[in-house]
Amino acid sequence: MMTPLLECLDIVKSFPLPSRRGPWHSRGRFKALDGVSLSLNPGETLALVGESGSGKSTAAKVLGMLLAPEKGEVRFRGRRLPSWGRFGRLPPQRHLSDFRRNVQMVFQDPFTSLNPRLTVGQIVAEPLAIHQRAGPWGSRTARRKRVHAVAEQIGIAKHWLERYPHELSGGQRQRVAIGRALALQPEVLIADEPLSALDVSVQSQVLNLLHDLRTEHRIAYVFISHDLAAVEHLAARIAVMYLGRIVEIAARDALFTSPRHPYTRTLIDAVPRLPSDALTSPAHLPVGEVPSAFEIPRGCAFAPRCPRAAPRCRESRPALTGTGNDDRQFACHFPLED
Ligand SMILES: Nc1ncnc2c1ncn2[C@@H]1O[C@H](COP(=O)(O)OP(=O)(O)O)[C@@H](O)[C@H]1O
Ligand code: SF4
Ligand SMILES: [Mg+2]
Repeated sequence: MMTPLLECLDIVKSFPLPSRRGPWHSRGRFKALDGVSLSLNPGETLALVGESGSGKSTAAKVLGMLLAPEKGEVRFRGRRLPSWGRFGRLPPQRHLSDFRRNVQMVFQDPFTSLNPRLTVGQIVAEPLAIHQRAGPWGSRTARRKRVHAVAEQIGIAKHWLERYPHELSGGQRQRVAIGRALALQPEVLIADEPLSALDVSVQSQVLNLLHDLRTEHRIAYVFISHDLAAVEHLAARIAVMYLGRIVEIAARDALFTSPRHPYTRTLIDAVPRLPSDALTSPAHLPVGEVPSAFEIPRGCAFAPRCPRAAPRCRESRPALTGTGNDDRQFACHFPLED
């Protein structure tokens, strides 16, 4: 079996429950991630899908080594990355700098993720300067050439390199954020809802850009979205999250044609039928509300909204398991027929 490029194993990450009486009166903690394992092969696109609050961004930050989990580990090229020390510091290590150079992130909001005091050219050049000893970008001329090559890749005209982020449109800013992430020619791009802050008209342009970059440069993506329709054309595998857990993970076609978890089914039913509608209609989510962090049910967390829920579902939590026929897995006591 191929060694995954990037993986996380059995991650647990909890946050203090907010209290109306202020930060010193925490009402305990809740698990934003509860035993999450994911793996990404070279050149693969793995989508992470789930409603708001399901833990997608937390998973992205743990995978990108921006957030310390309480339990579990992150591996890059099959080797465990260093554990976080006290005070949230990571020890310097060659394996970690290889990781930092090769695993890049793009966030949802291109308005806050770019430094307003730097020009577009400086923003794209910054990672090259930071990692100048790791690649062929030791000289200023080499860095300038690389910035121009990136500008061409992301479809930003050369004269825009002298401009500041506030002079750009939302779509252009997200292109710049993608350009900054691509500058070091990474092997992995973790994109956390890169389309959701953009106008509908530019969403498909940015999606096409990500698609082309993958074809040309064999980058592996972790592509995060609350909308299953947005990942349909890009993802090879899809992991569906619900309240901090993965409830189903499968190859894209298997997931769309025969979902086994009732939650996946409701997400698919919400996908508009016509491909041209895919990015324009808001997803219709399953009936009922996502339970709040204060009241996550004891058994299956989806039970309050599940049309198939039976007494057993409220008593015991289903584990994520497979059938052995393929590499799909689901967490449900009464899965849908294959
Ligand atoms: N820094 C934080 N402090 C407290 N709670 C947080 C923090 N980050 C995330 N959460 C909570 O963790 C849960 C998962 O959040 P998140 O990972 O952002 O979900 P998603 O990206 O799927 O919307 C949410 O209930 C959110 O409020
Ligand atoms: S375990 Fe029960 S409640 Fe949970 S998804 Fe399956 S059928 Fe629905
Ligand atoms: Mg998020």
